[in-house]
Amino acid sequence: MHARTLITLAALWLGACLPEPQNVDFGACEEPPPGEVPATTPTYHRDVRPLLERECVNCHQDGGIGPLSLDGYAEAAMWSEVSLAAVERGDMPPWPPSSCCRELRHTRRLDPDDVEVLRSWIDAGTPIGDEADAPAPPAAPGLSRVDLEVMMPAPYTPTASLGPSDDLRCFLIDWPLDQVTYVTGIDVVPGQRELLHHAVIYSIPDAQAANYQALADADPKPGWSCPGGAPQSADAYVGGWVPGARAQDYPEGLGREVLPGSKLLLSAHYELSAGAAPDQSVLRFKLEDEVTTKVEGLAVFDPLWVTTRDMMIPAGEADVRHSYSYDPSAWFKLGQPIQVHDVALHMHEWGTKATLGIIRSTGEVECLLHIEHWDFDWQGEYFLEQPVELRLGDKLYVDCHFDNSAGNQPDGQQPRDLWWGDDMEMCIGSLLISS
Ligand code: HEC
Repeated sequence: MHARTLITLAALWLGACLPEPQNVDFGACEEPPPGEVPATTPTYHRDVRPLLERECVNCHQDGGIGPLSLDGYAEAAMWSEVSLAAVERGDMPPWPPSSCCRELRHTRRLDPDDVEVLRSWIDAGTPIGDEADAPAPPAAPGLSRVDLEVMMPAPYTPTASLGPSDDLRCFLIDWPLDQVTYVTGIDVVPGQRELLHHAVIYSIPDAQAANYQALADADPKPGWSCPGGAPQSADAYVGGWVPGARAQDYPEGLGREVLPGSKLLLSAHYELSAGAAPDQSVLRFKLEDEVTTKVEGLAVFDPLWVTTRDMMIPAGEADVRHSYSYDPSAWFKLGQPIQVHDVALHMHEWGTKATLGIIRSTGEVECLLHIEHWDFDWQGEYFLEQPVELRLGDKLYVDCHFDNSAGNQPDGQQPRDLWWGDDMEMCIGSLLISS
């Protein structure tokens, strides 16, 4: 038999043994069991207020990004039924990752018992109770310590550049420290809480900063328009921020190196439905001089998607899928395993669902992050509860679905062919790893 035929046959045979990652359904998970009905009638001060303060009030307060306030008895009672309905539908709190994929840190999800507390409180006529019964308020969210604060160089007033109410804008900010430093936590204080919908922070080494500076210089307003949202080199990734996140300290011992002379690149997503106003957001960092585990960014996508029109999403098609698997062995120092600490997926507004996973050398497929209902407005990065080990021979894969039919045009235009090359769409998995 011809050698090539043998290889083809072997590949076919091997292929038949491997589960197709595309066909593993990570979205189908079991419903959690129903919660326990509380033994005593819940009251606002004792039961409901702590729950709302823990899970909702971060976003739902005056000037917050949520459309209504849940901060105070009158507000909580007035919105109680719509709140319960939003929670039961799984819409609130917003948390896109599938619960059957991996345990993630800082998960925003109500326990079934919490849902029963809300329901019983409404059934009992939303009693206010006695303020003296209220438990101590929770610790304020945010960093445990702030070592450095930097600000956008100038106020910027967003204007819709992507569809009717979104603007994606990038800014360069000087990194003021003159020794190697490790970022161990990030927080963002929006200049305009109602406008800033999410932010991603990159560190750009001195040698590349001029390319970005040229983009900023060519634009008369502060920063420059960056509809893709991100520079293509994911190894520059420092961290992301979404409003309402509980705490942004990295897990103990982990840090992201930033070199002296670097610039920070802030990629900001503004959502303009509440009206535009000048924003000058502040970035806060927790820092260390040394860390036990240095994390680096790693991206999973097909390089051809960027350089050609290979990632074509034809006009009018309702379910277009692109996937790619990648052998990360270049990251293995002397064949030693690497650890995955943090995962994220990124698509634009035509994305509908996506998975980042591992194909083990044995052929087994494991989920790292699955988003069943992609929502461009709720992107996040997610620290894994437990790091996951990648061994020599394992592959990473990313799988994205897009809907380019007439009914799913975020900008209300007619469907047209889309691809990555010009930053119209993207499909990228990113990870923070250590070796
Ligand atoms: C991370 C921010 C955030 C958190 C946390 C959050 N919300 Fe929301 N909420 C929003 C935003 C933004 C909207 C507007 C719709 C959208 O963008 O999804 C919204 C919409 C709503 C609405 C009106 C729309 C609807 O779905 O009926 C209700 C009611 C609501 N939230 C209740 C809650 C409750 C109850 C909690 C806590 C259990 C909560 N939210 C937690 C941001 C948040």
